[in-house]
Amino acid sequence: MSQRAVVTAGTGGIGLETAKGLAERGFAVTVVGRNAERGAIAIERITAVATGAAPHFVAADLASLDQVRALAAHLAAEGPLSVLVNNVGAMFAQRQQTVDGIEASFAVNHLSPYLLTELLLDQLRAGGPSRIVNVTSAAIKAAKRTFDAVEPPGGYYGFHWYGRAKLANLAYILHLAERLRGTGITVFAADPGGAATDMTNGTMTSPKIVSPALRLLWPLLRRAFERSTDGTASDAARPSIFAATDASLDGQTGLLIGPEIRPVPAFRGATDPQAIENVLRLSRQLAPLRDGSGIQPR
Ligand SMILES: NC(=O)c1ccc[n+]([C@@H]2O[C@H](COP(=O)([O-])OP(=O)(O)OC[C@H]3O[C@@H](n4cnc5c(N)ncnc54)[C@H](OP(=O)(O)O)[C@@H]3O)[C@@H](O)[C@H]2O)c1
Repeated sequence: MSQRAVVTAGTGGIGLETAKGLAERGFAVTVVGRNAERGAIAIERITAVATGAAPHFVAADLASLDQVRALAAHLAAEGPLSVLVNNVGAMFAQRQQTVDGIEASFAVNHLSPYLLTELLLDQLRAGGPSRIVNVTSAAIKAAKRTFDAVEPPGGYYGFHWYGRAKLANLAYILHLAERLRGTGITVFAADPGGAATDMTNGTMTSPKIVSPALRLLWPLLRRAFERSTDGTASDAARPSIFAATDASLDGQTGLLIGPEIRPVPAFRGATDPQAIENVLRLSRQLAPLRDGSGIQPR
C-alpha cells in the first residue's frame, strides 16, 4: 500500500512539482488548493507520473482558519500520514485581512501551516517514521524580527512582512523538531531558492512591496528579484522532495535544506528564544487548538 503524502498549495507552482516528485516516488499524494478546476488539471499531471496509489485533490482556502480545521479533519479521517509538505505561501502587495480578521501574510505563511501541522500530529505519529517539511524563503533576511504582535510597527511592505511571517514559521518549525525528537516524526524546512511562478510574476513586480528607502533602488532590486526567481518550479521543488524523502536524512531532524539540496545553517533569528516564545504565544492565541484535536504546543 502507498504511503500518504499531503502537499498544500499543490495544484500549481512549486507545490505541483513537489507533488509530482512524491507521486513518482510511490506516495499516494493529496494536493490542496482553492480552485477545483486547477485541482483537476493538477491531478491529471500528477497521475501521469505516479507510480503508487492515485492522487487526490481537496479544496481549501488556507487563508481561513476554519477551512484549515475542516481540511485537517478531512485528512485525519483518511488515516495515517507519512509526509506533510506545508508549501502554501503568499505575498500581498497591499495589506489585507483574512476572514478571521488577521493580517494575511502572517495568516497564510505561518498560522495556517502551524494549525494544520498541530492538528495532524496524531496521523503523522501513526504514519511514522514520518516527515514534516515547511517551505521557507530567503526573504527572511529582510524581515523585522519582532513578534510582540501580529503586525510589526511601521508601514506595510509586502516583501518584508512576507519574510517576517516565514521567519515566524521557521522559528516554530525548528522548535517543533526538538519537541518531536524521538517520536518518529522528523521536521525540516526547505528553501526553494527562486522560481518564476504566479507569486513571483505577480506581487513581486510592484515596488510597493519594499520599504520607501529600498524603493529608491527599485530598478536594481527588480532586476535582482527577476534574476533570483528565473528558475523553474521543478528545480525549486527539489529541496522539498529531498527533505520529504531522502534516506540520507533518516534519523535527522530540525534541518534547513537549501536551494543546493543540502543542509545549510538556519537563518539568524529563527533560533532566538524570545522570537520562538513570542511566535508560539501569538500562534496559540490566534489559532487555538480545540480539545481533543491535537496536543497543545509547549
Ligand atoms: N517562487 C519563488 O521564487 C519562491 C521563493 C522562495 C519561497 N517560495 C515559497 O514556495 C512556496 C510555493 O510558492 P510558489 O511560488 O509556487 O507559489 P504560487 O505559484 O503562488 O503557488 C500556487 C499554488 O498556491 C495555491 N494557493 C495560493 N493561495 C492559497 C490559499 N490561500 N489556499 C490554498 N491554496 C493556495 C494555489 O492554488 P489555487 O490556484 O487554487 O489558489 C496554487 O496551488 C511558497 O511557500 C512560497 O512562499 C517561493
